Amino acid sequence: MMPTPFNRIPAERVRESNPSIWVELSALASEYNAVNLGQGFPDGPAPRFVTDELKKIAKHPELTCAHQYTSGYGHPKLVKELSKWYSYLYQQQVNPKTNILVTVGAYHALYYSFHAWINEGDEVIIIEPAFDCYAPQIKLAGGVPVSIVMNFPDGGTNASQFTVDFEKMESSITEKTKMIVINNPHNPTGKLFNRMELLKIADIAQKYDLIVVADEVYEFHCWGVNKMIRFASLPGMWNRTISIGSAGKVFSITGWKLGWAIGPDHLLAPLKAIHQNCIYACSTPTQLAVAMAFEKEWETFHVKPHKSYLGGYLPEKLEIKRKKLQKMLVNAGFAPISPQAGYFMLANYTHLNTGFRISEGFEELDDYSFTKWLCREKKLAVIPFTAFFANIEDKMRNTSFVRFCFFKKDRTLNDAKKIMKKLSK
Ligand SMILES: Cc1ncc(COP(=O)(O)O)c(C=O)c1O
Repeated sequence: MMPTPFNRIPAERVRESNPSIWVELSALASEYNAVNLGQGFPDGPAPRFVTDELKKIAKHPELTCAHQYTSGYGHPKLVKELSKWYSYLYQQQVNPKTNILVTVGAYHALYYSFHAWINEGDEVIIIEPAFDCYAPQIKLAGGVPVSIVMNFPDGGTNASQFTVDFEKMESSITEKTKMIVINNPHNPTGKLFNRMELLKIADIAQKYDLIVVADEVYEFHCWGVNKMIRFASLPGMWNRTISIGSAGKVFSITGWKLGWAIGPDHLLAPLKAIHQNCIYACSTPTQLAVAMAFEKEWETFHVKPHKSYLGGYLPEKLEIKRKKLQKMLVNAGFAPISPQAGYFMLANYTHLNTGFRISEGFEELDDYSFTKWLCREKKLAVIPFTAFFANIEDKMRNTSFVRFCFFKKDRTLNDAKKIMKKLSK
């Protein structure tokens, strides 16, 4: 039979959708075989104490609890571990059965949070620059993202200089505002919000009865004197916060795509209602292996934190790599903004004396042109800063920076250094 013409069009909600920056630039980086300081994943070996757990699981095909469907909201062993860890970290009893939902990475937990709470026309405050999936996910749920762009002084050199205008935030609240999204430690700036800033957000949330989605995937990625304050641990905030975490970031295994949402029963129940008919349960072996890794880590983290992965190895490695990249950038003529936490560093590229020229009349943001030029001509992949803003006016004001990921193995950083040395004429 001859096929009849296919004339259907996709649903309204996906019509606006364009390839995300990760899809576009990952393809470019692999096409040009570029040294990749773009996407936020460590390219060195995953921690052996974590992968060993998966190895043990693979050796036991007879274990139903490791290879068959597990409890829908999270493997019993993983939710038990998460409850132990987060009860301690939030100083708040986290019930393994009701206060945790295990998801396919933090992306998925964010998606559920918006879809479970946002109705058509509800407004959600986002602090920009912001992780680029927030606005599209909010729109998919029918919501309206409202951007509050952080201030940063000209010539600033530290991520702590990114500041939120709280009066502006408060004045942007309408009767439709339902939620604030905060990301701490912050991607892409590397800012770590301090107690005073977080308390201001908490005040606003209380005053206007808002839900707070606290994306804290880099919660263990703070070095030196920089101390992470988890939003749910602030007075009165447990009750209105959905905290989001990622095993991929905690244990440097981003490809495992395992995350969680944690919060009070009344906030999580609607997320679970979607989850049960969406994927029902996440992959069992990875949940079990992550649970065992958390279990192993617990004792060391408390008794000898500097010998533990999360209290010692991870922050120390991050700081060493942060310093290394920062030095390379300065030597190459970039003006970096020193991060306080996380995987990323922003740097102003506009004073470099390279062969890069902005093409007049070319309808592309300068940082995109620079990023593409750097990837094609110099084989170095980074991310344009404007990818982290939703509105074109804010993008246009922020075209002087690109984002580097420094959590890369030494060989990658050294390869990048060779390229950077030859960048300036
Ligand atoms: C701020 C932020 N939130 C969420 C995610 C997504 O995490 P996952 O890989 O666990 O889905 C990322 C990943 O880079 C991120 O940077």
